[in-house]
Amino acid sequence: MSGYWRLWLRVSFDMRLQVSPATAPLKGQLRPPGDKSISHRALIFGGLASGVSAIEGLLEAGDTMATQHAMSQLGARFSHTENGLMVQGVGAGGLLEPEGVLDMGNSGTAMRLLAGVLAGQPFDSVLSGDQSLNSRPMARIMAPLALMGATIHSEPGGRAPLRIQGNPALQGIHYDSPVASAQIKSCLLLAGLFAQGETVVSEPRLSRDHSERMLPAFGIEMGAGISLRGGQCLQACAVSVPADPSSAAFLVAAALLVPGSDLLLTHVGLNPTRTAFFRAVQAMGGDLSVQNERETAGERVGDLRVRYSPRLQGIDLPADWIPAMIDEVPILLALAACAEGTTRVRDAAELRVKESDRLAVMARGLEAMGCPVQEYPDGIDVTGADCHFAEVDSAHDHRCAMSLAVLGLRAEGGVSICDAQYIDTSYPAFRADLERLGITLHMQPESSS
Ligand code: S3P
Repeated sequence: MSGYWRLWLRVSFDMRLQVSPATAPLKGQLRPPGDKSISHRALIFGGLASGVSAIEGLLEAGDTMATQHAMSQLGARFSHTENGLMVQGVGAGGLLEPEGVLDMGNSGTAMRLLAGVLAGQPFDSVLSGDQSLNSRPMARIMAPLALMGATIHSEPGGRAPLRIQGNPALQGIHYDSPVASAQIKSCLLLAGLFAQGETVVSEPRLSRDHSERMLPAFGIEMGAGISLRGGQCLQACAVSVPADPSSAAFLVAAALLVPGSDLLLTHVGLNPTRTAFFRAVQAMGGDLSVQNERETAGERVGDLRVRYSPRLQGIDLPADWIPAMIDEVPILLALAACAEGTTRVRDAAELRVKESDRLAVMARGLEAMGCPVQEYPDGIDVTGADCHFAEVDSAHDHRCAMSLAVLGLRAEGGVSICDAQYIDTSYPAFRADLERLGITLHMQPESSS
């Protein structure tokens, strides 16, 4: 059975994660899984390029499998080798009209980036996803794509499924995005490749810049700021995917919270548009340092040394750090629940339109575990407390599930989390990695708990 179907089957069953308080420290060295954002881009760019691209370190998880599966429906060919994945790209003008709907599963990145590619093709296509993805806002990409000449029909409120009427005569645009979003930016850059003229994107704060860094490796000439000229063709190249700082964040937090822990996490991506969580940990008094910093394939990487930190302090999170830790806010809130004083997060309304409303889901989970919280439309205050056992709902959200699981390691009596199968969308080896570091978590089908 292919990895895609294996993971699809795993997320099709309701699972409960039972976490007991840690009785031993996390010790050892580990390379966390490949970066999800870079993996999506490697699969899409490699699938579009002329020639064969070699990808090392790719994340194989529900989200990236959805992208890989869609790219193969569009004509790209994938084969596993000893060193990773080879992608035979379709080359210029080579995408095939897909048979049936392209299923993006739980992945907003897959849907928004592929919408950019498909808007400029000489064929129609339909992008759909699971219940969570089909309730997330797509108007944010449909509006600028329409300015380029794209025709996309959605469900009411700009929700997927997206029915894309391909238009091979798109026009480049200058777009000032109202949101700092790498998905919007990358969607428009990809559509811009298939458009006439130049596409220029600006954003209120710099979001993750993996597309801008990786497109030149695929032979695309980038212009000033965030811009490119249409009509350029991608050429195959070798991609090395660093470990995902967003996945590493859960292991960092676990080590900070469990007495006696001492971990080395290797080859972690340290692109400055992704590292604000590590800065926040240091600002809270966490014992975290970067070693052996280096550059591979246009991305900064390094090893993270993290040790148990008994006296974390609450902080006021600077608003301009949010884009560089947008996916790490849930795990920061779990740390805040164990810190002295109050942690304040504002200017983070984007969290309400992620895989779940992450501010609300974390607020309910933390409150149930005995931690005082105050929710705001664009943020949350969390005051550290002695947390205790509760049954909590991760609302089909992988990052909320893992954040609450890490908090359970420190809570009296642990925690029990439903919908934990969604962890597989970004980190299928979460439990196995914790096990290697000395911590056992139990997952069981919902009916038997
Ligand atoms: C991503 C961008 C971010 C992030 C998501 C991955 C990407 O979303 O939350 O997990 O790979 O471009 P937004 O662009 O919506 O902020």
